[in-house]
Amino acid sequence: MKVSIGADHGGFKLKNELIKFISKNGYDVIDKGAYTFNPNDDYPDFAELVAKSVQNGESEKGIILCGSGVGASITASKFKGVRSAVCHDTYSGSQGVEHDDMNVICLGARIIGSTLAEKITLNFLKSKFIEESRFLRRLEKVQKIELENFNT
Ligand code: RB5
Repeated sequence: MKVSIGADHGGFKLKNELIKFISKNGYDVIDKGAYTFNPNDDYPDFAELVAKSVQNGESEKGIILCGSGVGASITASKFKGVRSAVCHDTYSGSQGVEHDDMNVICLGARIIGSTLAEKITLNFLKSKFIEESRFLRRLEKVQKIELENFNT
């Protein structure tokens, strides 16, 4: 599976650790930067690249890191077809995919350590959307809201 990943300065170190971990677990990682540590870079620039990669099918899932995960998720949610959330627990990492078809996960590198980030990430990558009628019905409702409110 192809997975895109990106981070600003707040998530830079954890991104590099996660890339090694994800690759070791057999996933094909597309690194969208930052490629060097720049304390003045801005999270929307990297969140946009990851969200577009998922949106256009270059990658199936995306991971974005910043200090809190919040700015990354706000940005990614602006892209039609992208369903992103901040997840700092292992339950949400799987349940968000299984019930809500989350395709982008956002992590706050100033909040969680690398071991927890790895476990959450693995849950996110391994999980699949469960096509039960209640989950499909809710997803359709989300998609209807998206269609009504997004212009492009
Ligand atoms: C950058 O210092 C920080 O504000 C950013 O990484 C992130 O936490 C935003 O949500």
